Formats: sequence, C-alpha cells, structure tokens
Amino acid sequence: MTDFSGLFTPFQLGKFTLPNRIVFPPMGLEVCEGGVPSEEAAQYYARRAQGGASLVITEGVYIDHHSSGDNPMLGRFHGEDAFEGWRTVATKVHEAGGICVPELWHVGLIYRGPDLMTGVEVAFRPELGQVSPSGYIEPGKQVCDGMTQAQIDEVIAAYARGASKAVELGFDGIELHGGHGYIIDQFFWKALNHRTDRYGGSARECGQFAAEVITACREHLEPGMPVILRISNWKMIDFAARIADTPEELEELLAPAVEAGVDLFDCSQRRFWEPAFDDGSDLNLAGWVKKVTGVPSCTIGSVGLDADFFVNLAEGKIAELNTVRLDDLMRRFDRGDFDLVAVGRAMIAEPDWPQFVRDGDLHQLKPFSPSLMADPLMAHVKD
Ligand SMILES: Cc1cc2nc3c(=O)[nH]c(=O)nc-3n(C[C@H](O)[C@H](O)[C@H](O)COP(=O)(O)O)c2cc1C
Repeated sequence: MTDFSGLFTPFQLGKFTLPNRIVFPPMGLEVCEGGVPSEEAAQYYARRAQGGASLVITEGVYIDHHSSGDNPMLGRFHGEDAFEGWRTVATKVHEAGGICVPELWHVGLIYRGPDLMTGVEVAFRPELGQVSPSGYIEPGKQVCDGMTQAQIDEVIAAYARGASKAVELGFDGIELHGGHGYIIDQFFWKALNHRTDRYGGSARECGQFAAEVITACREHLEPGMPVILRISNWKMIDFAARIADTPEELEELLAPAVEAGVDLFDCSQRRFWEPAFDDGSDLNLAGWVKKVTGVPSCTIGSVGLDADFFVNLAEGKIAELNTVRLDDLMRRFDRGDFDLVAVGRAMIAEPDWPQFVRDGDLHQLKPFSPSLMADPLMAHVKD
C-alpha cells in the first residue's frame, strides 16, 4: 500500500502555509458565458477546496488587452460583470478553506489547427491585432511583424493590471500562464522567438519577457503574495516541443524569472512520469526545474489517470482508469523532486480525491471519463 503521508504535510507558499501538497490546476471548461463565471462555477471551484485541494488555481483568464483571447465561453479578467464573478470565486474558495489565485492569460499568436473538441480551424486573424515575439504562428511560418517595444510594454502593463485586480478582488496571488504555446511561452520557445533584442537570442534572453511580467505584477501584489509561473515543454500545436534541449539551457532560460522572484514553477506535463530529457535521468520537468533553479515546483499530468485524455479523444477511445502510477508519484515526491502535486481531471471526477487518498480509500475514487466534460460543473455528482 502506497504511503501518501508526504502529501499531507504543510508547505510554505509565500506568506501562506498550505496544509497539504495538493493543488487544483487551471482548467478552462468553457462554462463562463460571455466570459463571466457563474455562481455554479464559483461552487465548482469551492468544492475542490472543500474536497481538500489547498491551492485552487482558476482557469486561464484573459487579461485586459485587445488580443489576449476571445473565446466567449472562457473567463475574462476585464469588465465589471466578470470581476464580480471572480470576486465570488475567491470568496467561496476561501470559505471552503482554500487559497485561490487566478491564472492570468494572454494567448499571443496561436494556430491550433482544427480544435480537438469542435473541429473548428483556429488560424491567424489579423483583425484582432494579435501579437507575438516575432510574428510566427508556427515554426517556420511568419504571418506578421514581431512585437514592437511599445506592444511588449502594453502587454506587460495588462498583466500588471491583472495582478492589481486580483488583489482588489480578494485573491491570494497570481499564476502566470507561461506554457502550452501561449504568449509567454512564445518568447520561451526559440522556434517562435527570433528576436535579436533583449527578448531573444540566448536562452536567458528568451526568458526575459517572463521576468519583466513577474516584476511588473509583483509591484501590485501585497508582500508575501505568491507569483506562480506555469511552464511546459508541450504546446497546443506540438506535443513533442521543448523549451530547452539540456538542463543547462533550462537553467539559463528560467534564471531571469528566478531573479525576478518567482515563488513556484507549475510544470505542466501531459504525463508526470515522463522524463524531461533523454539523458538517462528519470527526473520529470518539475524535477529538473527544481534542481536547476532551487525554486519549489509543482508537478502535474495524468495523476490518478492511466490514459491520456487528448489521445483518447482524438482516437475516439474512452480513457481507462485508474491510479496505476501513484506509487511512482510518491517515489518521486519522497525523493524531493517536487513540492506540490496538481490533480486536474481526476479531481473533476472526484472532488474529494485528496481525502480518499489521505485515507487510503483509493477504491472509492470516482473515475474520470471524457464524457464528464460534457457537463463538468456537475461531473462529481454523476457516476
Ligand atoms: C478541458 C481542459 C482545460 C484546460 N484548461 C487549462 C487552462 O485554462 N490553463 C492551463 O494552464 N491549463 C489548462 N489545462 C491543462 C490542465 O491544467 C492540466 O495541466 C492537464 O489537464 C493535465 O492534468 P490532469 O492530467 O491532472 O488533468 C486544461 C486541461 C483540460 C483537459
């Protein structure tokens, strides 16, 4: 029987002492009509805190910039109607005993091909005034000019407004979405960043934009409020992509964020057990990030699942379940590879996941199935 006790020890995140190591990660469920989270959405987040997630991160929310993103069913972080909804989210999560941060998001210039869910082509739309480091919509395909310094400053200022608003609405800090191929990641990823100024060239320079966003946001947060940076190798347009080819390059890339005072790296992987580099080490991304930066890290990726949602969806298969890899998770955690563990889909299916795991009642966990995503706010009340 796996020993999960390590997950139920306290962890210091900025000024907050989290009672355990379990995080509910950002999940955009396309339930925010007009970008506004409903009362049910607030209940859904609070339910994960009630179930035992010590830190609840909201879905990616579009910051106050004209091209930060425009899916009308995903949360926005501008406009009074949306702010009132987010204030309720923060309040309800607090009432349920959790710490809550919004994930501030700007999509940059994205090409996603046909959307996995809807089949709709998401291509370059010049009318939106989309911005990206060098105007590349995918590796090798430049569709517009790269950002001017003024455009970079505008986007950084929009992140800073997001941080300021987060404090005003009662959140406890912020997460910055620096993964999955969106704007911060477009600076990290040298296949899309061809700049020759201070934002591109060496790995360190590719990490500069993220650092400036952190610094600008930090000015608006209260002392001790954490800044979390989500990063990933994988992109929506390329699951096999990498932000760094070696641990040394990873260290150089993240050094500016470390110097800017990032509190936690949230290291997004599709499967937590996959090594970050082909160098014989079994360390995953969170493991390497913690090792080369000395900053705490959070792992994620199919915890509590044994099959991949995206692959299964694409292949028309239903995911098979459950929990085969938790002993490997704990082996890595107990070795000190990472400090926190985020549980997404498994906690959509089973909000009491932390409690069942703590008590060793794995057989009681409701399994995740992609069909739950048809009505994710209610997923946990269905079988
Ligand atoms: C429907 C869905 C929506 C997601 N939305 C976001 C998002 O808004 N921001 C983000 O950083 N990651 C997002 N992710 C990625 C998740 O945070 C997480 O990294 C991923 O689901 C893997 O974790 P899991 O295997 O525990 O579910 C999303 C994933 C899914 C399945």
